[in-house]
Amino acid sequence: MKKSFPKRVFLNGEWKNAEEAKISVFDRGFVFGDGLYEVIPFYNGKFFLKEDHLNRLSYGLKEINIEFEIDGINDVLLKAIREADLDGSDGAAYIQVTRGVAPRIHSYPSESKPTVLIYAFPVVLEGFEEKSVDVLVSEDYRWHRCDIKSTSLVANVAMNNEAVKNGFHENVLHRNGVITEGSHSSVFFVRNKVVYTHPNGKFILPGITRKATIDLCRANNIQIIETPLSIDQLSTVDEVFLTGTTTQILAVRSVVMNGVARFKQNQIGEITRILQQELIGKTRRYI
Ligand code: PDD
Repeated sequence: MKKSFPKRVFLNGEWKNAEEAKISVFDRGFVFGDGLYEVIPFYNGKFFLKEDHLNRLSYGLKEINIEFEIDGINDVLLKAIREADLDGSDGAAYIQVTRGVAPRIHSYPSESKPTVLIYAFPVVLEGFEEKSVDVLVSEDYRWHRCDIKSTSLVANVAMNNEAVKNGFHENVLHRNGVITEGSHSSVFFVRNKVVYTHPNGKFILPGITRKATIDLCRANNIQIIETPLSIDQLSTVDEVFLTGTTTQILAVRSVVMNGVARFKQNQIGEITRILQQELIGKTRRYI
Protein backbone atom coordinates (compact mmCIF):
# COMPACT_ATOMS: atom_id res chain seq x y z
CA MET A 1 0.00 0.00 0.00
CA LYS A 2 1.46 3.34 -1.05
CA LYS A 3 1.41 5.84 1.77
CA SER A 4 -0.58 8.96 1.11
CA PHE A 5 -1.34 12.10 3.08
CA PRO A 6 -4.32 11.87 5.44
CA LYS A 7 -7.15 14.19 4.43
CA ARG A 8 -8.18 15.21 7.95
CA VAL A 9 -5.96 15.95 10.94
CA PHE A 10 -6.49 17.02 14.53
CA LEU A 11 -4.21 19.95 15.34
CA ASN A 12 -4.27 21.74 18.70
CA GLY A 13 -7.87 20.99 19.54
CA GLU A 14 -9.50 21.18 16.11
CA TRP A 15 -10.16 18.83 13.23
CA LYS A 16 -9.10 20.38 9.94
CA ASN A 17 -8.52 19.53 6.32
CA ALA A 18 -4.84 18.62 6.20
CA GLU A 19 -3.91 21.44 3.79
CA GLU A 20 -5.36 23.96 6.21
CA ALA A 21 -3.45 22.65 9.24
CA LYS A 22 -0.41 24.86 9.86
CA ILE A 23 2.21 25.08 12.59
CA SER A 24 4.62 27.89 13.39
CA VAL A 25 8.14 27.86 11.93
CA PHE A 26 9.21 28.45 15.56
CA ASP A 27 7.67 25.21 16.79
CA ARG A 28 10.37 23.37 18.74
CA GLY A 29 9.36 20.15 17.06
CA PHE A 30 10.37 21.70 13.75
CA VAL A 31 13.44 23.54 15.08
CA PHE A 32 14.93 20.92 17.45
CA GLY A 33 12.94 17.73 16.94
CA ASP A 34 11.85 18.51 20.51
CA GLY A 35 8.83 16.22 20.64
CA LEU A 36 7.48 12.69 20.90
CA TYR A 37 5.28 10.45 18.81
CA GLU A 38 3.25 7.25 18.97
CA VAL A 39 1.84 4.93 16.35
CA ILE A 40 -1.14 2.88 17.63
CA PRO A 41 -2.58 0.11 15.45
CA PHE A 42 -6.25 -0.68 15.00
CA TYR A 43 -7.72 -3.86 13.56
CA ASN A 44 -11.22 -3.74 12.09
CA GLY A 45 -11.57 -0.25 13.52
CA LYS A 46 -10.63 -1.30 17.08
CA PHE A 47 -7.45 -0.16 18.80
CA PHE A 48 -4.99 -2.78 20.01
CA LEU A 49 -2.99 -2.18 23.22
CA LYS A 50 -3.89 1.51 23.19
CA GLU A 51 -3.25 1.90 26.93
CA ASP A 52 0.28 0.55 26.58
CA HIS A 53 1.00 3.06 23.80
CA LEU A 54 -0.45 5.95 25.82
CA ASN A 55 1.54 4.87 28.88
CA ARG A 56 4.72 4.94 26.81
CA LEU A 57 3.80 8.43 25.60
CA SER A 58 3.23 9.54 29.22
CA TYR A 59 6.61 8.10 30.19
CA GLY A 60 8.36 10.02 27.40
CA LEU A 61 6.56 13.26 28.25
CA LYS A 62 7.71 12.93 31.85
CA GLU A 63 11.29 12.11 30.86
CA ILE A 64 11.63 15.27 28.76
CA ASN A 65 9.39 17.48 30.92
CA ILE A 66 6.60 18.25 28.50
CA GLU A 67 3.47 19.03 30.47
CA PHE A 68 0.53 17.62 28.61
CA GLU A 69 -2.60 15.89 29.86
CA ILE A 70 -3.10 12.86 27.64
CA ASP A 71 -6.49 11.77 29.02
CA GLY A 72 -8.33 13.88 26.46
CA ILE A 73 -6.67 11.99 23.62
CA ASN A 74 -8.93 8.94 23.92
CA ASP A 75 -11.95 10.57 22.29
CA VAL A 76 -9.80 12.16 19.61
CA LEU A 77 -8.33 8.75 18.74
CA LEU A 78 -11.79 7.27 18.23
CA LYS A 79 -12.78 10.23 16.09
CA ALA A 80 -9.55 9.87 14.08
CA ILE A 81 -10.72 6.50 12.74
CA ARG A 82 -14.03 8.02 11.63
CA GLU A 83 -12.42 11.13 10.17
CA ALA A 84 -10.15 8.88 8.06
CA ASP A 85 -13.16 6.81 6.97
CA LEU A 86 -11.55 3.70 8.44
CA ASP A 87 -14.43 2.33 10.53
CA GLY A 88 -14.19 -1.45 10.31
CA SER A 89 -10.76 -1.26 8.60
CA ASP A 90 -7.16 -1.79 9.62
CA GLY A 91 -4.83 1.13 10.19
CA ALA A 92 -2.92 3.14 12.75
CA ALA A 93 -3.23 6.44 14.55
CA TYR A 94 -0.27 8.79 14.59
CA ILE A 95 0.16 11.09 17.59
CA GLN A 96 2.79 13.79 17.84
CA VAL A 97 3.30 16.10 20.80
CA THR A 98 5.99 18.76 20.65
CA ARG A 99 7.07 21.26 23.28
CA GLY A 100 5.39 23.98 21.21
CA VAL A 101 6.34 27.43 20.00
CA ALA A 102 9.10 29.52 21.61
CA PRO A 103 12.03 31.75 20.62
CA ARG A 104 15.03 29.57 19.76
CA ILE A 105 16.90 28.76 22.95
CA HIS A 106 18.22 25.28 23.73
CA SER A 107 16.96 24.99 27.30
CA TYR A 108 13.27 24.40 27.90
CA PRO A 109 11.33 27.67 27.64
CA SER A 110 9.46 28.76 30.77
CA GLU A 111 6.26 29.15 28.76
CA SER A 112 5.17 27.08 25.82
CA LYS A 113 2.04 25.17 25.01
CA PRO A 114 2.48 21.71 23.49
CA THR A 115 1.58 21.31 19.83
CA VAL A 116 -0.59 18.21 19.32
CA LEU A 117 -1.17 16.47 16.00
CA ILE A 118 -3.28 13.32 15.58
CA TYR A 119 -4.54 11.49 12.53
CA ALA A 120 -5.34 7.96 11.38
CA PHE A 121 -4.07 6.28 8.22
CA PRO A 122 -4.64 2.89 6.58
CA VAL A 123 -2.06 0.10 7.06
CA VAL A 124 -2.04 -3.45 5.71
CA LEU A 125 -1.81 -5.52 8.89
CA GLU A 126 -2.48 -8.84 7.18
CA GLY A 127 -0.33 -11.24 5.23
CA PHE A 128 2.88 -10.58 7.21
CA GLU A 129 3.02 -14.30 8.06
CA GLU A 130 3.60 -15.12 4.39
CA LYS A 131 6.67 -12.90 4.00
CA SER A 132 10.33 -13.18 4.88
CA VAL A 133 12.74 -10.27 4.57
CA ASP A 134 16.45 -9.51 4.22
CA VAL A 135 18.03 -7.18 6.77
CA LEU A 136 21.30 -5.26 6.93
CA VAL A 137 23.59 -5.08 9.96
CA SER A 138 24.39 -1.40 10.67
CA GLU A 139 26.16 0.41 13.44
CA ASP A 140 23.72 1.84 16.00
CA TYR A 141 24.90 5.42 16.25
CA ARG A 142 21.74 6.81 17.88
CA TRP A 143 21.76 8.67 21.18
CA HIS A 144 21.70 6.84 24.53
CA ARG A 145 18.00 7.49 25.26
CA CYS A 146 16.39 5.22 22.68
CA ASP A 147 13.71 4.45 25.30
CA ILE A 148 12.24 7.89 24.54
CA LYS A 149 10.11 7.78 21.38
CA SER A 150 11.40 11.10 20.12
CA THR A 151 10.63 12.57 16.70
CA SER A 152 14.40 13.23 16.36
CA LEU A 153 14.80 10.25 14.07
CA VAL A 154 17.56 11.40 11.73
CA ALA A 155 19.87 8.51 12.72
CA ASN A 156 17.08 5.92 12.23
CA VAL A 157 16.15 7.52 8.92
CA ALA A 158 19.72 7.58 7.61
CA MET A 159 20.41 4.00 8.68
CA ASN A 160 17.20 2.67 7.15
CA ASN A 161 17.78 4.62 3.95
CA GLU A 162 21.13 2.84 3.59
CA ALA A 163 19.36 -0.51 4.02
CA VAL A 164 16.49 0.19 1.60
CA LYS A 165 18.81 1.72 -1.02
CA ASN A 166 20.73 -1.57 -1.01
CA GLY A 167 17.64 -3.76 -1.33
CA PHE A 168 17.11 -4.59 2.36
CA HIS A 169 13.86 -4.27 4.25
CA GLU A 170 15.22 -3.22 7.64
CA ASN A 171 18.40 -2.91 9.70
CA VAL A 172 19.67 -4.96 12.60
CA LEU A 173 21.58 -2.42 14.67
CA HIS A 174 24.61 -3.12 16.84
CA ARG A 175 26.47 -1.14 19.49
CA ASN A 176 30.05 -2.39 19.79
CA GLY A 177 28.98 -5.74 18.36
CA VAL A 178 25.90 -6.12 20.57
CA ILE A 179 22.60 -6.28 18.68
CA THR A 180 20.04 -3.78 19.99
CA GLU A 181 16.99 -3.52 17.67
CA GLY A 182 15.95 -2.41 14.17
CA SER A 183 15.69 1.15 12.79
CA HIS A 184 11.93 1.00 13.37
CA SER A 185 11.28 -2.45 14.82
CA SER A 186 12.38 -4.75 17.64
CA VAL A 187 14.56 -7.80 16.89
CA PHE A 188 14.13 -11.36 18.23
CA PHE A 189 16.22 -14.52 17.82
CA VAL A 190 15.38 -18.18 18.37
CA ARG A 191 18.00 -20.77 19.27
CA ASN A 192 17.11 -24.34 20.26
CA LYS A 193 13.47 -23.21 20.65
CA VAL A 194 14.44 -20.49 23.17
CA VAL A 195 13.56 -16.90 22.23
CA TYR A 196 16.03 -14.05 22.86
CA THR A 197 15.65 -10.28 22.66
CA HIS A 198 17.59 -7.28 23.98
CA PRO A 199 16.38 -6.21 27.45
CA ASN A 200 14.55 -2.91 27.86
CA GLY A 201 16.66 0.02 28.97
CA LYS A 202 18.18 3.09 27.35
CA PHE A 203 19.47 1.35 24.21
CA ILE A 204 16.13 0.22 22.77
CA LEU A 205 12.59 1.46 22.47
CA PRO A 206 10.32 -0.56 24.78
CA GLY A 207 8.28 -1.84 21.84
CA ILE A 208 4.62 -2.56 22.52
CA THR A 209 4.59 -5.41 20.00
CA ARG A 210 7.81 -6.64 21.65
CA LYS A 211 5.96 -6.80 24.97
CA ALA A 212 2.95 -8.50 23.35
CA THR A 213 5.31 -11.06 21.77
CA ILE A 214 7.02 -11.78 25.09
CA ASP A 215 3.58 -12.28 26.66
CA LEU A 216 2.65 -14.66 23.84
CA CYS A 217 5.84 -16.66 24.46
CA ARG A 218 4.99 -16.98 28.15
CA ALA A 219 1.37 -17.91 27.45
CA ASN A 220 2.55 -20.65 25.09
CA ASN A 221 5.29 -22.06 27.32
CA ILE A 222 8.02 -20.86 25.00
CA GLN A 223 11.11 -19.88 26.96
CA ILE A 224 12.01 -16.21 26.53
CA ILE A 225 15.27 -14.66 27.72
CA GLU A 226 15.75 -10.90 27.63
CA THR A 227 19.47 -10.76 27.02
CA PRO A 228 21.49 -9.19 24.22
CA LEU A 229 23.06 -11.31 21.47
CA SER A 230 26.22 -10.32 19.62
CA ILE A 231 26.85 -10.22 15.89
CA ASP A 232 29.17 -13.22 16.34
CA GLN A 233 26.24 -15.23 17.72
CA LEU A 234 24.16 -14.68 14.57
CA SER A 235 25.59 -17.83 13.01
CA THR A 236 24.29 -19.88 15.98
CA VAL A 237 20.61 -18.91 15.79
CA ASP A 238 17.83 -20.86 14.05
CA GLU A 239 15.30 -18.06 13.53
CA VAL A 240 15.28 -14.26 13.44
CA PHE A 241 12.17 -12.11 13.40
CA LEU A 242 11.19 -8.46 13.75
CA THR A 243 8.25 -7.01 15.65
CA GLY A 244 6.51 -3.64 15.51
CA THR A 245 3.18 -1.91 15.18
CA THR A 246 3.27 -1.81 11.39
CA THR A 247 5.77 -4.69 11.09
CA GLN A 248 3.69 -7.13 13.19
CA ILE A 249 5.82 -10.32 13.54
CA LEU A 250 7.92 -10.57 10.41
CA ALA A 251 10.29 -13.43 9.60
CA VAL A 252 13.85 -12.61 8.56
CA ARG A 253 15.40 -14.58 5.68
CA SER A 254 18.92 -13.21 5.87
CA VAL A 255 21.02 -10.93 8.05
CA VAL A 256 23.83 -9.45 5.98
CA MET A 257 26.93 -7.60 7.16
CA ASN A 258 29.47 -6.15 4.73
CA GLY A 259 28.04 -8.26 1.92
CA VAL A 260 28.26 -11.53 3.88
CA ALA A 261 25.16 -13.35 5.21
CA ARG A 262 25.70 -13.99 8.94
CA PHE A 263 22.29 -15.70 9.10
CA LYS A 264 20.26 -17.34 6.33
CA GLN A 265 17.00 -19.27 6.56
CA ASN A 266 14.65 -19.68 3.63
CA GLN A 267 11.80 -21.26 5.61
CA ILE A 268 9.84 -19.37 8.23
CA GLY A 269 10.85 -21.00 11.52
CA GLU A 270 8.55 -23.03 13.76
CA ILE A 271 8.57 -20.63 16.73
CA THR A 272 8.10 -17.58 14.48
CA ARG A 273 5.05 -19.27 12.93
CA ILE A 274 3.52 -20.10 16.30
CA LEU A 275 3.94 -16.51 17.52
CA GLN A 276 2.54 -15.10 14.26
CA GLN A 277 -0.59 -17.26 14.55
CA GLU A 278 -0.98 -16.30 18.20
CA LEU A 279 -0.73 -12.59 17.34
CA ILE A 280 -3.31 -13.00 14.58
CA GLY A 281 -5.55 -14.77 17.11
CA LYS A 282 -5.18 -11.92 19.60
CA THR A 283 -5.66 -9.05 17.18
CA ARG A 284 -8.54 -10.63 15.24
CA ARG A 285 -10.25 -12.30 18.17
CA TYR A 286 -13.24 -9.94 18.20
CA ILE A 287 -14.06 -10.46 14.54
N1 PDD B 1 8.38 2.28 15.10
N2 PDD B 1 12.09 0.15 17.80
C1 PDD B 1 12.05 1.32 17.15
C2 PDD B 1 13.30 2.12 17.03
C3 PDD B 1 10.83 1.78 16.58
O1 PDD B 1 10.79 2.96 15.96
C4 PDD B 1 9.67 0.97 16.71
C5 PDD B 1 8.35 1.41 16.16
C6 PDD B 1 9.78 -0.26 17.39
C7 PDD B 1 8.58 -1.13 17.61
O2 PDD B 1 7.73 -0.59 18.59
P1 PDD B 1 6.17 -0.88 18.63
O3 PDD B 1 6.02 -2.35 18.70
O4 PDD B 1 5.71 -0.20 19.84
O5 PDD B 1 5.58 -0.31 17.36
C8 PDD B 1 11.00 -0.63 17.94
C9 PDD B 1 7.18 2.99 14.71
C10 PDD B 1 6.06 2.10 14.35
C11 PDD B 1 7.51 4.05 13.68
O6 PDD B 1 8.52 4.70 13.87
O7 PDD B 1 6.75 4.23 12.72
